[in-house]
Amino acid sequence: MKTQALAALIVLSSATFAAAAPAMQNVYARSGTTLDGKWHVIVDPYENGAYNYRRDPLDAAPNPTSGYFLDRRPRDRTDLVEYDFDASPTLMVPGDWNSQDDKLFWYEGTVWYRTRFDFTASPGMERQFLHFGAANYQADVYLNGAKLGRHVGGFTQFEYEVTGKLKPAGNSVVVKVDNTRHADAVPTVNTDWWNYGGLTRDVTLVETPRSFIRDYEVRLAPARAGAAARLALSVQLDGASGPTPVTVDIPEAGVRARLMTDAAGSARLEVPVRKLTFWSPQQPKLYEVRLSSGKDLVVDRAGFRRIEVRGNQVLLNGAPVFLRGISLHEENPLRGGRAYSEEDARLLLGWARELGCNFVRLAHYPHNEHMARVADELGLMLWEEIPVYWTIAWDNADTLANAKDQLTALIDRDRNRASVIVWSVANETPVSEPRTRFLKSLVDAARALDATRLVSAAMEVHVDPEDNNHRIVDDPFGAYTDLLSFNQYIGWYDGLPDKLDRIRWTFAYDKPVVISEFGADALQGMHGDALTRFSEEYQQDLYRRTLAMLSKIPQWRGTTPWILVDFRSPRRPLPVIQDGWNRKGLIGENGTKKKAFFVLQDFYRKDADSHAGGK
Ligand code: GCU
Repeated sequence: MKTQALAALIVLSSATFAAAAPAMQNVYARSGTTLDGKWHVIVDPYENGAYNYRRDPLDAAPNPTSGYFLDRRPRDRTDLVEYDFDASPTLMVPGDWNSQDDKLFWYEGTVWYRTRFDFTASPGMERQFLHFGAANYQADVYLNGAKLGRHVGGFTQFEYEVTGKLKPAGNSVVVKVDNTRHADAVPTVNTDWWNYGGLTRDVTLVETPRSFIRDYEVRLAPARAGAAARLALSVQLDGASGPTPVTVDIPEAGVRARLMTDAAGSARLEVPVRKLTFWSPQQPKLYEVRLSSGKDLVVDRAGFRRIEVRGNQVLLNGAPVFLRGISLHEENPLRGGRAYSEEDARLLLGWARELGCNFVRLAHYPHNEHMARVADELGLMLWEEIPVYWTIAWDNADTLANAKDQLTALIDRDRNRASVIVWSVANETPVSEPRTRFLKSLVDAARALDATRLVSAAMEVHVDPEDNNHRIVDDPFGAYTDLLSFNQYIGWYDGLPDKLDRIRWTFAYDKPVVISEFGADALQGMHGDALTRFSEEYQQDLYRRTLAMLSKIPQWRGTTPWILVDFRSPRRPLPVIQDGWNRKGLIGENGTKKKAFFVLQDFYRKDADSHAGGK
């Protein structure tokens, strides 16, 4: 399967990080033990647990004798050990530390996490993997005092094989999590969201047979005129000792395919399928897919749909569609902190459904896996993005490798989700040669990993120097994307809402125009006239005028206004009104809808689809 492209990317990235092997597909369908729960933690702003006073890394010593990763207890009363996980406070995993402890609300730096567990292998299961849904931002992982590796990137899964490294009792997993921001990181030092730190997603000890199905893809094969639909199946085994049979069963679609892997454990096959209900927001049909090989069985639910662009139209299953969207951050405002659970996904995507959406932009980084799986079920199309946000270090090869790592992990994880229709490689990045080269290389990587979805980014707009009411979208990066998507804040950062009535647009590309952001801050419950900033009436008026302006654009095919619900941001200090919240939500942090929510809902119910471009 795509191992060559993947291998090339890994080679590229391994030069920079001791990266973990690509995580296995569909970890939630595997057998294993959750390590979620209370973990003991040590807050370590000076990284005292990792470096000695000479700043030498303690885990670099051949037989380290100190360092919190050893999780050591004093041998006797004379033994000097200046930390004690058992006596230290605990934090819940999954979860960020900022919303769990007021003392850590603003904290950026290192926190050591430690859990202990006993282990007995399940029958027939000969291999074990320590799997992390995500850890923000850099995680150094240790098992029983030995380093397993380092993962960089706050929003992607990673795992380490620990077969043969586990003890029957008292296994110690220690993770040094550091969310310090760095200029050459992805994201870089400046963002408009809270830098939640910690083991933010599920941690699982996964068990598999000696040979198991590490990765697979089930999707609709490209259409052939007049030919019946076909499914493209591909699998990648891990641990097979030579060519091995794999069966793919999709009972409801009448598919039972037998594949034989090559010596490297990979196989692919296209099979005709007589009757198939295509996945769509109106009918989010999911099929049970059962993949088995030897002792291994992986069960998934997948939908089959086609997404493409034709001229300036977006086609879903061959028919023009308007993307009735909304943007959202991975945060549960009601509980506070990073969202991580299926319930969180149902809360947030449920609100999007209520708004009348068929599309959601998961901004600005890969959200947890539950989001795409719940979107599959609810019939919401998704835009997924990596945090190449604002002023990234464009000329830094490690930064590019990091961005590619995150893109690869995202595509690997969600490649079987029908809901995902767009891979976005960036947001609001200033036009320059190095920037466009960097982004082009991400587009190439995305297309190499997955040629079946659209690729885009939130691009730049500029004002006509001759005419302040004329906006031009001719970002050179637009030449490489499937959509022409950009953010615009006319009426909030750029003038007052009445300006929207006078604006005209010019686009350098005949591509579907998707407005990836527009909006205005409003404190829920604050009222005034339509010119009172931060009032619900101002936001309401801006939405009305923006939708009217956009409706005049012939190639307008969708939008994801900023944003579904208020979210935390360290860039929003205005007392009483913002208090550390970006208030551009259509829903307040307490879950109460603002007036503009109903303006957009009304538009989505009555007018939006007329802009799909179908005649
Ligand atoms: C930007 C950016 C968002 C930010 C928003 C805002 O466009 O992409 O991340 O939150 O504007 O200023 O509210």
